[in-house]
Amino acid sequence: MNLQEIFNNALKKKSPDELVATSKKSELKKTLNVFDLIVIGIGAVVGTGIFAIIGAAITGSAESAGAGHAVVISMILAGISCVIPALCYSEIAAMIPVAGSAYTYTYATMGEFMAWMVGWILMLEYAIGNITVASAWSGYFIHFLKNFKDILPDFVLNIPLWLKYDYRAIVEMCDKYGWDIHDKIPYLFGHIPIAINLPAAAIVLLLTILLVRGVKESTKVASIMVGVNLFMIISFIIIGAFFVKPENWNPFLPAIDPLQGILMGAFTIFFAYIGFDAISTAAEETEKPQRDLPIAIISTLIICTILYICVAMVLTGLVPIGQIDSQAPLAHAIKFIGKGWLDWFSYLISVGALCALTTVLLVYQLGTTRILYAISRDRFLPKSWRLIHKKYKTPHVMTWISGIAVIVCGLFMNLKISADLCIYGTFTSFIIICIALLILRKTDPERPRPFKVPYCPWFPVAGIIICLILIIFSLKTLKTSSTYFIYWLIAGILIYTLYGYRQKRLEERKIITK
Ligand code: ALA
Repeated sequence: MNLQEIFNNALKKKSPDELVATSKKSELKKTLNVFDLIVIGIGAVVGTGIFAIIGAAITGSAESAGAGHAVVISMILAGISCVIPALCYSEIAAMIPVAGSAYTYTYATMGEFMAWMVGWILMLEYAIGNITVASAWSGYFIHFLKNFKDILPDFVLNIPLWLKYDYRAIVEMCDKYGWDIHDKIPYLFGHIPIAINLPAAAIVLLLTILLVRGVKESTKVASIMVGVNLFMIISFIIIGAFFVKPENWNPFLPAIDPLQGILMGAFTIFFAYIGFDAISTAAEETEKPQRDLPIAIISTLIICTILYICVAMVLTGLVPIGQIDSQAPLAHAIKFIGKGWLDWFSYLISVGALCALTTVLLVYQLGTTRILYAISRDRFLPKSWRLIHKKYKTPHVMTWISGIAVIVCGLFMNLKISADLCIYGTFTSFIIICIALLILRKTDPERPRPFKVPYCPWFPVAGIIICLILIIFSLKTLKTSSTYFIYWLIAGILIYTLYGYRQKRLEERKIITK
């Protein structure tokens, strides 16, 4: 095979007609309506960001400044950076309602190699993002168990460190508190440290089993949990509003370097908005995708932005800067009001947080599987991975692979780094989606578009610029995560060159000789 042929193959596109035809042959059940899609959307969006990471956006971290009370501005900025990509997703998803999200759209516009890379980058958003959520879930769960001191046995209440944190987290704790790591972790054969975040692994395993049994069943469970978490957030806003002290909003801007604080706050809290694009990964399981996908994507973004701004106003109005808790800020804020009769509500907020984090995990596992399914259907991955379960009609092999990958990677990855990588992955996919929209408007202007982005090309170009500014700014600030991001991109190029490219040609040849 000569270089020219390799080059041509890497740039080979799949036409939108071909994509739609493949999806029509899909064995996935079409059971989701607009309500299910909004549940998937809110389920994917409302979670770790608003229940935990908002604390870090306000207070900052070792590598970056925080936004202080101006987190409201950060939130608006993060919301704005999502609006244009959300509109672009809506237009393309309604026009090509096929599983695989940005991966599929890139295949139609930029060819095979870029599509593979986008699929690989989406794994950062979905699978690596889920490591952050699973760790946060584990933290809340352990915190929640402490409410049952009198009922639960001691070994449940006092789980050893090596069964509730990843190795890196334990190393950091040992450094911080001057502990000897050998007292905290058992070593296999005297050399291999054993540290497993058991609650995080258990919840991912449980959800994997649920997803193998079916999407409709999973969204039923998710809709109950989304209901509980929305109820808790709205209650927090209403009850908290009665105790807000407006003087807490003064001074509104951070005293030192307000611009950096607000921009890094926007980058951090952006995690809270990630997820609405997960709606488009379920396109092939939607009854009326052309009508329902845009409605669901835009409604989810509007509902979440309004809720987040209200939560940020109430939280920063309740607790003075410097006293906001970075682990469980909302539950802590209610306790901070100092009314004993409200303590039960702080406990209920933890229940809401657990529900929210569980639904994010569920939707992200669903998204990971559906994107990998689309990549495998395009023959970049082994054929056996795309087998559909005879009874449940779900891609069960892929669902298991995704679940096990998240559990195993969770053993090595740090919560903060996985969150940053997830944000990089999402910004990159947003930029790609805006470019894909511009290309499709040029190459396929006649295709029916049930929804159209207004002010094209200005809106998509503005979307690209906003995402680029945030990504470049954070790449310069967050040195560790940006290095990992570059390694991830290199790994993607290597896997394509050494495996994906050949596997695809091999399967193509088999089809021709049949
Ligand atoms: N937006 C999702 C969350 O906050 C990823 O957990």
